[in-house]
Amino acid sequence: MKTVITAKTSLTPEVESKLNKQVRLEGLSAFYYLAMASWCENRGYLNAAEFLYDHFEEEKMHMLKLMHYINEAGGHALAPEISNLRYEFNSFREVFDHVLEHEITVSRAISNLADFCFQEKDFATFQFLQWYVNEQREEEAMARRLVELFDIIGEEGQGIWLIDQEIGKMLKKLKAERAAEEGK
Ligand SMILES: [Fe+2]
Ligand SMILES: [Fe+2]
Repeated sequence: MKTVITAKTSLTPEVESKLNKQVRLEGLSAFYYLAMASWCENRGYLNAAEFLYDHFEEEKMHMLKLMHYINEAGGHALAPEISNLRYEFNSFREVFDHVLEHEITVSRAISNLADFCFQEKDFATFQFLQWYVNEQREEEAMARRLVELFDIIGEEGQGIWLIDQEIGKMLKKLKAERAAEEGK
């Protein structure tokens, strides 16, 4: 019986389970950002809202990419349960402090997962995860830049409006870079 299972999937049960945990974390990221986007839209921070709605789509794509990988390797990707979302924030800045904090958590999870796959000699999954390693480096850098906007501009007077404008510019740049990448 065991040989049948081994032939069916190239993933060990441990790797499959850890990949599914990462599916959940990416799904959680997506819905965290969706809740944040809605909070920003509700308060009229429209560029920030657009940025976060866009990020929701990105995280959804990260989740799906993992799910397809698991299934193509013969495993079973599990659609995650999403709970304990946060709907209220004390300030505009707090939203982006959370974004940075969350991206750092995800980067660590990806590093641990890649490390585990290497130890298990699952080099195919290790290599697949390199895309996420790179993606996390970019997303963390962007989240740091967003938090810096609050430090540089400050929230006094027209500060919030200016920060929202800057976030709009960042999103525009991001979309242009993505389009250029797709056109390659
Ligand atoms: Fe992600
Ligand atoms: Fe992310």
